[in-house]
Amino acid sequence: MCKQTQLLNIPPGGGRLNLQLLRPPRQTEKVVVVMGATGTGKSKLSIDLATRFSGEIVNSDKIQVYEGLDIVTNKITEAEQRGVPHHLLGTINPNSNFMAANFTKSASNAIKSISSRKKLPIIVGGSNSYIEALIESENYECCFLWMDISIPVLDSFVSDRVDRMVMAGMVEEVRNIFDFTSDYSRGIKTAIGVPEFDRYFRMEAFLGEESRANLLREVIDEIKSNTRKLARRQLEKIDRLRNVKEWNLHRLDATDVFRKQGREADAAWERLVAGPSFGIVSRFLWNVGPERYRNVTAIRRAAAMEMAMAAVGH
Ligand SMILES: *[C@@H]1O[C@H](CO)[C@@H](O)[C@H](O)[C@H]1NC(C)=O
Ligand SMILES: *[C@@H]1O[C@H](CO)[C@@H](O)[C@H](O)[C@H]1NC(C)=O
Repeated sequence: MCKQTQLLNIPPGGGRLNLQLLRPPRQTEKVVVVMGATGTGKSKLSIDLATRFSGEIVNSDKIQVYEGLDIVTNKITEAEQRGVPHHLLGTINPNSNFMAANFTKSASNAIKSISSRKKLPIIVGGSNSYIEALIESENYECCFLWMDISIPVLDSFVSDRVDRMVMAGMVEEVRNIFDFTSDYSRGIKTAIGVPEFDRYFRMEAFLGEESRANLLREVIDEIKSNTRKLARRQLEKIDRLRNVKEWNLHRLDATDVFRKQGREADAAWERLVAGPSFGIVSRFLWNVGPERYRNVTAIRRAAAMEMAMAAVGH
């Protein structure tokens, strides 16, 4: 109130500069951004972070924003969400065209709302162009985590994932939205797995059992190949953000997690991904380094954090 009165009484001319000085510094919201190619474990990490730091997820996958095709688009299931609120996940009309500008507007509103409730906004998804548009148009303080996996390991993982999608009912799911006049240029029909099946649904009624099975196999291989190509494009964009835009991405190499199974994989996840990223995010949020801790428990914890961070090149 007081400041406002003062501002109103500043005479014209000399007023402009004073006005700037009196204005409180612009509030920047802290956001964590989880990046990485498809299949690298971004969703899992985001849930770990959200449960640890009281966060909410803002989806930044341009296909998962649309409602429907949960198998094809590989949306995180409700069980996997573990009660963490998600924004912009399956909420957009699948026949509309949601673009980077639409994303920026919706995501920034979500972030505002999450921050106002004293929760941590965690942006998660593979669409780097969306992330870039959002980060460059808003004034955030960002902590970027980059889930990285060696390409051969990722290739084999995404191939297996497509097989699992088929077993989970992908063919029926896509058939449900198929029509003979399909437009694959907009909305959810641009998803990998939808245009590829077009040929199959047009022809299946005219084919014998063997030709049909062969065609299905071809289509599935095409989906695998297109997913591998997507992963490479995503990595190129991440390289550009690091090298040209000079974004400071904290790289988490999860390759070993994918090479192991069961309890060993869980332990590798803790050691290579969860542990180091908890350390990175703690520092980002509270600026806590080892020197800030005062008691023995905290010093031990900080040392473990340091070792984990050294392991990922920090
Ligand atoms: C995207 O933004 C444009 C321009 O503001 C708007 O006209 C359009 O309805 C939006 N699309 C969706 C799907 O929200
Ligand atoms: C030690 O420090 C940690 C981290 O700051 C804190 O969570 C914990 O409560 C402290 N323990 C004691 C006994 O003060």
